[in-house]
Amino acid sequence: MHIRVYGVQADEMSTYEEAKVRYGFTFEFEAVPLSEKTAGDVKDCDALILLTNCIVNEPVAKVLASAGVKYLACRSAGSDHVDYSAVVRYGMKCCHVPAYAPEAISEHTIMLALEVLRHAKSSYQKVASGDFTLKGLKGRQLGMMTAGVLGTGRIGRVTMSLLNGFGTRVLGWDPFPNAEAARLCTYVEKETLLQTSDIIFLHCPLTEDSYHTICSDTVSKMKEGAVLINTARGGLVDLPAVLDALESGKLSGFGFDVYEHETDTIRKQVPLDDIHDPVFRALLQRDDTVYSAHVAFYTDTAILNMIEVTLDNLKEYEATGCCKNEINPQSF
Ligand code: NAI
Repeated sequence: MHIRVYGVQADEMSTYEEAKVRYGFTFEFEAVPLSEKTAGDVKDCDALILLTNCIVNEPVAKVLASAGVKYLACRSAGSDHVDYSAVVRYGMKCCHVPAYAPEAISEHTIMLALEVLRHAKSSYQKVASGDFTLKGLKGRQLGMMTAGVLGTGRIGRVTMSLLNGFGTRVLGWDPFPNAEAARLCTYVEKETLLQTSDIIFLHCPLTEDSYHTICSDTVSKMKEGAVLINTARGGLVDLPAVLDALESGKLSGFGFDVYEHETDTIRKQVPLDDIHDPVFRALLQRDDTVYSAHVAFYTDTAILNMIEVTLDNLKEYEATGCCKNEINPQSF
């Protein structure tokens, strides 16, 4: 199987070198993400390994299928960058890595929460400018709060378990509650979660139903001074509504690893003045926000697991034509 791999970092090359022998695959590497502009460059590939900045919409799927691509392997858990129905319509198959290291994302999630609650951004900026006073730094303790987790799947459950360690009261909501999460949280109605939580964590996939889950309507139901943490997908949050809420004091902090239009900036060097979205730019400049550019997954353990499971997925397709990690939109 010949595979085109998008977005490989230098320190990952040795894993692909080993895989040539172990799996019998051959590889070509491409730094520029897959898009309508670049899809025509794909030639003589059986499979593509995609990052979340690679967009597979209907026109891209058509070009790939006519170039003979059979398999698309998302190296990620989330697969909203792929129009799965278009992929199937053009006779291709698409898999993902359902759980490469949920702990990596959850640890990062808790870090963002603590950074917001302890004013880490201001604190470090103050010290860097020689201001060692306490002014503006009084924090709040995560363990004294009620946290609401929207999405109680693999990552949501690890976050809940970490929150339990802090002594936080944990509420959960999910369209498909599960017994494992029920041991880590109290399931409540979504409305109750919004109204009662001091801090809300988003751990659900981006779907038609979940698009802009956090919008002016849901924000209006939240507690005064609540904190929002989003490490799932940018499209879950209507950023103008969040900016308004931060300005009015309805929200007291926002930690986010993902941004709806992140393909404009992610993995690129973009000076602040060149960011055209005024809402995103305003959020980046506020003291009560922290943004990490989609790096929650980026740990040594997670990367190794992502690559190995992706290659196992492709091996399974090659051997059987099927894959246990085929994307299943029914499970969203
Ligand atoms: P999962 O599939 O194990 O769990 C997702 C849960 O969300 C399921 O229980 C599902 O029933 C629930 N859900 C579906 N629609 C919902 C809605 N509208 N509201 C609330 N809950 C809903 O997925 P997992 O592994 O926990 O990942 C969650 C998301 O995290 C992924 O879809 C992905 O978008 C994001 N992610 C972000 C990463 C990052 O680096 N920032 C890395 C990996 C995943």
